[in-house]
Amino acid sequence: MIKKCLFPAAGYGTRFLPATKSMPKEMMPIVSKPLIEYGVEEALEAGMSDICIVTGRGKRALEDHFDVNYELEQQISGTSKEGLLDNIRQLIDQCTFSYTRQHEMKGLGHAIQTGKALVGDQPFGVVLADDLCINTEGHGVLSQMAQLYKQFRCSIIAVQEVPEDEVHKYGVIAGQAISDDIVRVEHMVEKPSKENAPSNLAIIGRYILTPDVFDLIADTEPGKGGEIQITDALMKQAQRGCVLAYKFKGKRFDCGSIDGFIEATNYCYDRQCIEQSV
Ligand code: G1P
Repeated sequence: MIKKCLFPAAGYGTRFLPATKSMPKEMMPIVSKPLIEYGVEEALEAGMSDICIVTGRGKRALEDHFDVNYELEQQISGTSKEGLLDNIRQLIDQCTFSYTRQHEMKGLGHAIQTGKALVGDQPFGVVLADDLCINTEGHGVLSQMAQLYKQFRCSIIAVQEVPEDEVHKYGVIAGQAISDDIVRVEHMVEKPSKENAPSNLAIIGRYILTPDVFDLIADTEPGKGGEIQITDALMKQAQRGCVLAYKFKGKRFDCGSIDGFIEATNYCYDRQCIEQSV
C-alpha cells in the first residue's frame, strides 16, 4: 500500500574518512554489497518499490549503482562472475529510482523535507542506510512497520532499547505502552544526556511517516546541533495526533560507526558462509 521509500543520503560520512572522501558512505560494502542496497532490498520487501534518494555533492556513484552497466555486463557475460550482478539487476528491474539534491546539510528533518518533491502527498517509508537491519526469522523491519501502518494509519518509528550511557547518540522516546511492542509516543528528545533522557528507547533509522509531517518540518526551528531535527517535527505530530514507536524484531547494526560496521561485516560474512555451506 505504501509505495514510496525515502533514503536521505546526502551526509558526508566523516567517521569513515578517508574512505568516504570521494565515495558516498552509503556505498561502503558489508562483505560485497553496498549498505544502500541492503536498504533498498528491505524497502522492496515491504512493497515500497518507488525509491526516492536525497543525494548531495559527490554522490553520483549511487545513481550509477542503480543503473545498468552494459560494458561490465558484456565483459562478465558467460563467466563464473555473471551471477554476482543478479541481485542488483533484479532491484533495478523491480524498482524505480528518483533523486533530488540537498544543497546544504541542515539536518535529517531538512533532508526529509527536501524529499517532498519526490514523495508528494502520501505516506512513505524512510530508511537511514547507516542502520543495517536484518531479520532472519521473518519479515524485514520496514515490512513489519508497513503492517502496523495498515492497522493504525499514523506515523510509526522503529525503536530499540539501548544502554543508558548510549542514549545521547539517538532520538529517545517515551509514552504509553499499548502492547508489548508498541508505544504511543508522548515524549521525544533528540540526543539527550543520560540525565535528561525520558527512557532508554532509542529511535533507529526506520520510519513510516504521514505526509502532514512536511508542514510540521517546515515549522520546526533548528534544534540539537543547530540542525532541523525530524525528532522535533515528530514530537509535534505526536502532540496533535498519533505517533507510534515499534520495538521491531531483528538485529540492527550501527554502520555509521566503525565498530558497528565491523560487527555487521562479521555477522554477514558468517551468515554468507553458512548459506553457502548448506
Ligand atoms: C538520526 C536521528 C536520531 C536517530 C538516529 C538513528 O541521528 O536524528 O533521532 O536515533 O538517526 O540512527 P544521526 O545518527 O543521523 O545523527
